[in-house]
Amino acid sequence: MSTHPSFSVFRTTFLLLCASCVQHTFASVGILDSDTLLPPNSNGPQKPILPSHNIKNDFESPWSHKPICARSTSLSSPGKKYCVYTSNLTGPAGMSMIVSPSIAAEAAPLLNDNPLDNFLTLDQAEQLYSGNPPYKVVEIEGKGMGVIATRPIAKFETIMVDQAAVVVALNIEKMVGKKEARRLLHTAVEQLRVPGEVRGLSGEHKASSEGDAKEGEQGKIEEDVMLTNAFGSEIAGIDCRALFPLISRINHACNPNAFVLFSRAGISMAVKAYRPIAPGEELSISYITLGQPSRNRAAALARWGFSCTCPLCSLADHEKQHSDILRSLISQSEGKILELAQAGRLDDAIALTEESIQMIEEEQQEHFLTDSYALLAKLWLVKGDRGRAEVEARKSFDRLVQMGFLGNGVGNSEREWEEWDLEGFLEVVGEGMVAVVPPKPEDAV
Ligand SMILES: *[C@@H]1O[C@H](CO)[C@@H](O)[C@H](O)[C@H]1NC(C)=O
Repeated sequence: MSTHPSFSVFRTTFLLLCASCVQHTFASVGILDSDTLLPPNSNGPQKPILPSHNIKNDFESPWSHKPICARSTSLSSPGKKYCVYTSNLTGPAGMSMIVSPSIAAEAAPLLNDNPLDNFLTLDQAEQLYSGNPPYKVVEIEGKGMGVIATRPIAKFETIMVDQAAVVVALNIEKMVGKKEARRLLHTAVEQLRVPGEVRGLSGEHKASSEGDAKEGEQGKIEEDVMLTNAFGSEIAGIDCRALFPLISRINHACNPNAFVLFSRAGISMAVKAYRPIAPGEELSISYITLGQPSRNRAAALARWGFSCTCPLCSLADHEKQHSDILRSLISQSEGKILELAQAGRLDDAIALTEESIQMIEEEQQEHFLTDSYALLAKLWLVKGDRGRAEVEARKSFDRLVQMGFLGNGVGNSEREWEEWDLEGFLEVVGEGMVAVVPPKPEDAV
């Protein structure tokens, strides 16, 4: 038997699990079955977001503008070029990247990273693009703009999809200096099809219209927008800030009712519901790594320029303390579980994992559950109870499917059952278990 054939297919295109890592796209456990991508000429809804591969001009497709560049003055790579690359027909607003030429070349094929292919079935796409999406952007008292649900939204439903409009190498300022970085950024936004989609995210924009930006201040509005609205993402192998204009309208909460999902390429993104959401309820996502105690949250949120006033941060002191204790127990438990398992104390490890799952549920940290169930399955497998391992692993798998981490759901679950392979699944899901790998069948007694 070949090893895990189903997963080798799946692994061609990982989605990134970013329920718990909006800023850090490392925990990639998602899987996209490439067979399930929308056929190019299907009779589905017209794709409103067009790839841009048929543009002809003097510079290379898919770019629509001549690259504008600056040279690095950093000692680490003096003279290295960083340029603005724009593809103004990509995505809902066009897309500009500020990266080195080699990264641009790597990123070019990724621009075709249509959210429709990554996150939606045809039915869902039809609903989202019927001109009647389940949300609207409104003014929220005390918070500026925000997004509210306009009809009941089901748990794990895809609420919104978006594509990056501006992508900037994280180290750009260090490389070319602040002034050049701003100049490039200004150009990057200017060349978009709808620059206002980006500039409109700035509170300051209303006061000073583009054009009469003060001397030396060019690019400042765009810089502010990036600092306060962009997500961290990894695109073409480098750390970037990526601005998703629509998704960035959604406000922060520490226990949000929605989460985001990056495509593998990092260029498209979906927002999905964590729980059922009622009409009129504000949508929220976490801007920071989920599961942190209050003090760490405050520090992490300071970088986004606001202090946390979400319900969790506004709890009475004793409730906040209780929440903080649970959170630190949850985050410590994985290490303890591994220690126990390595010491051969499997029953204790299993008991602690079950306890941890209860705490996770109490603290509404559901995004941790897929890993926890996978961990539990691994422990049962090591203990030699394959039946229990199957049950727990299925819980993990089913959640990943429901949450959208295994692709757009076009492949039906029956087929997935057919391809189900316990060891293969446990190899891809849940980290930190290297030391507790189940014995290979031939080694088993
Ligand atoms: C896209 O860029 C091309 C080339 O610069 C330009 O001719 C065209 O008008 C732009 N299209 C839009 C919609 O901005």
